[in-house]
Order: sequence, then structure tokens, then C-alpha cells
Amino acid sequence: MEGPSPNRPAADRRPPLLATDTRRQDCLRHRGREGEMNGTTTITATVAHLLTPAERQHWKLAWLSSVDHKRIGILYMLTALAFFVIGGIEALLIRLQLIVPNNTLLAPDTYNWLFTMHGTTMIFLVAMPAVFGIANYVLPLQIGARDMAFPRLNALGVWLVPFGGRLVRVHAAE
Ligand code: HEM
Repeated sequence: MEGPSPNRPAADRRPPLLATDTRRQDCLRHRGREGEMNGTTTITATVAHLLTPAERQHWKLAWLSSVDHKRIGILYMLTALAFFVIGGIEALLIRLQLIVPNNTLLAPDTYNWLFTMHGTTMIFLVAMPAVFGIANYVLPLQIGARDMAFPRLNALGVWLVPFGGRLVRVHAAE
């Protein structure tokens, strides 16, 4: 009698592959081409699990979900640029306060907050992310590696910068 045997391995009992099931097709294609996940194929195989090819081609999602070291490097540099503008506005406010003696433009606490935030922003949210961005972009190319080690951890790192920038402002303002 034909039919699924309870003793067969779980993979054989999976439903047949449909032409419309592009996500699974893509995943299987990656496996066929590059073998099972063994540490060298993790990125492509994992991405194939997560997004359909159509989803991956959409530029916004492609950038937001990227684990590619060059894109992450560019995202770091764009983040640094955004915070450079914020740090620059803070510097401008400090300068306006100091433009004449005994100026009452800013309250003393506000001035202190701006001073601290300007210094913190410029060092931790501009200078360091800019260095990370350049390093992410060029270092794998320099050593001939395909990507950084732990690319998804690398992607998490870039997203923690704006989160941290927001958090430090919420706390410093209290
Ligand atoms: C990469 C790092 C930094 C950059 C690019 C930067 C940039 C600037 C710029 C463009 C100004 C305006 C200058 C002016 O109007 O005369 C400024 C002012 C100032 N910055 Fe920074 N800054 C950086 C780091 C820091 C740090 C770490 C601190 C202190 C913790 C700091 C404290 C100040 C103060 C007090 C002023 C006002 C000085 C004044 O206008 O007399 N800055 N900064």
C-alpha cells in the first residue's frame, strides 16, 4: 500500500514542493548548491529562510535587513552623519550661549546638558560609528574575507547605535 510511512524521516513527510512556494524552493536551491548549513553557508541559507526573493529585492527591506559588511559599513557612516548634525546643533547652541558674557539664553542646567550631550554625541555616536563604518567596509576587503565574522551580530551592532543615541537622550534629559 502506498502512502507515508510513520518510520520515514521527517524530511520525507514534508508536503510536496509547489511552484508557488518560492521561499522553500529558494532555500532548497541554496542547500543543493552549497551543501547543508555548516558554518560557511549560514548567511545565504538563513536569508533564504527569512525573506522571499521578491521581498529581498525591495531596496528598503534589502538595506534594513542586510548582513553584508559593505552595506552595514554604509549604514554606520549614515548614522554617524545624522548624529553629526545633531551634535553640530548642540555645538551651535553652546556657542550662542557663550557668544557674549553673562548670556541668559540657556538655563545653567540646559547648558550643562548640551555640553555633555555634545561631547557624548561627537565621540560615541559620530567618531566611533564612523570608524566602525570604514572598518566594516574596507577590512574584509583588505584581508580577502567574504564578510565579517558573525554578520548578524554585526548588523545588530549598527541598529543599536540609534537606539543608544535615543536612550542616552531620554536619560540625560531627566
Ligand atoms: C569629534 C568630536 C567633536 C567635534 C567634531 C566637535 C565639534 C564642535 C564644533 C564644530 C563646535 C563649534 C565651535 C565653535 O562654535 O566655536 C564645538 C564646540 C564645542 N564643543 Fe565640540 N566637538 C567634538 C567633541 C567635543 C567634546 C568631546 C567636548 C567636551 C566633552 C566638546 C565640547 C565642546 C564645547 C564646550 C564647545 C563650545 C566651545 C565654544 O564654542 O566656545 N566637543 N564642537
